[in-house]
Amino acid sequence: MPGDDFVVTPYEVRGKVDHERLREKFGAEVLTPQLLERLATLTGGELHPLLTRGVYYSHRDLAALLEKFRKGQPFVLYSGRGPSGPLHTAHLVPFELCQWLQAKLGVEMYIQITDDEKFWFRPHLTRAETVRWGMENLADLLAVGFDPKKTHVFFDTRSIAAMYPLAVDVAKKIPYSTVRAVFGFPPSQNIGLVFYTALQTVPAFYPSWVAGKPVPVLIPCGIDQDPHFRVTRDIAEGLGYPKPALVHSVMLPGLLGERVMSSSSESKDNALFLNDASKEAARKIRKAFTGGRASVEEQRRLGATPEICSVWAAWRSRFASSESEFRTITEECRSGKLLCGDCKSNLIGRVQTFLVDHAERRERVADLAASLIIEQAPPGAGAASSG
Ligand code: TRP
Repeated sequence: MPGDDFVVTPYEVRGKVDHERLREKFGAEVLTPQLLERLATLTGGELHPLLTRGVYYSHRDLAALLEKFRKGQPFVLYSGRGPSGPLHTAHLVPFELCQWLQAKLGVEMYIQITDDEKFWFRPHLTRAETVRWGMENLADLLAVGFDPKKTHVFFDTRSIAAMYPLAVDVAKKIPYSTVRAVFGFPPSQNIGLVFYTALQTVPAFYPSWVAGKPVPVLIPCGIDQDPHFRVTRDIAEGLGYPKPALVHSVMLPGLLGERVMSSSSESKDNALFLNDASKEAARKIRKAFTGGRASVEEQRRLGATPEICSVWAAWRSRFASSESEFRTITEECRSGKLLCGDCKSNLIGRVQTFLVDHAERRERVADLAASLIIEQAPPGAGAASSG
């Protein structure tokens, strides 16, 4: 688009992202309060904080999916993680929404761990490392609290036998020109990643493929993943599957300022990792970028700017425990009543508790991970597929 000074693909985020313009550019819909209300009628009146605080802000076909659910047709949740290193708090965003939806609506969940994708994408990672990170990350994701009886994992290099027939059908429908245009790959790109998007589509069709009838799928993801699913949606009906619905979150800012929280960032101080020691987390928060003023006097007089503050972003995405607490933090920041040092001290306490609780939950589910990995498709899967 003329005047655009940012680029977002699943493999590159460049420039200062304007999320609203990005949504328009991608052709997705606004996640309106009315639509959230409709969701709340299905979840007993409640909404997850990630929904009410605007971390999720965009969608595709959510209204139709909710309407079908209301009439008695359950959907399946799907999200994933490319394991290239330890998880940080922003990586949990899609999984926390999924866990909440699963608990409220009793729906099935598919998690994809794309060790192949990260091996192809990151020149310096070995396959042993992506497998190891995949298992580590999976334990962290399960610690979010999924129902093991309703949760299934595609761990790409281990689940490929179950995925491959469907991947073959999918790959036949995706022209190379599409992949090149959507992901912006240069001619030197290894062909693993060129094929990979077919594998990210598989879990979106798998529930229908296994059931032999259309099963709606909802994919919570960062908006940077949308290009993969535009490809998925374009080919869905041609293969006889429903288009998956999506809800998109913003990419959360890192602790050091404008840049998105990313594990590949030059600095490990830009994100709070789930395996950070308490002291380390405190140190990072102490040096985090804020929306504060140059002096205490000025801040008391003029107030600070929450929207640009990485500490506020942390309160918003997870650490404020209630809507009223979140509102108070926001108002007192803006008015100058709350100073950055105090706000950071409060956050440090909250983060430290979260990290300890998370480690305990992870310990409890660690043994579960291997048993949830899909190795074979159920007998009879794909009986209805055609060429
Ligand atoms: N490509 C994603 C990543 O790099 C991983 C992924 C696979 C994913 N399937 C997904 C993310 C579905 C969101 C939704 O992390």
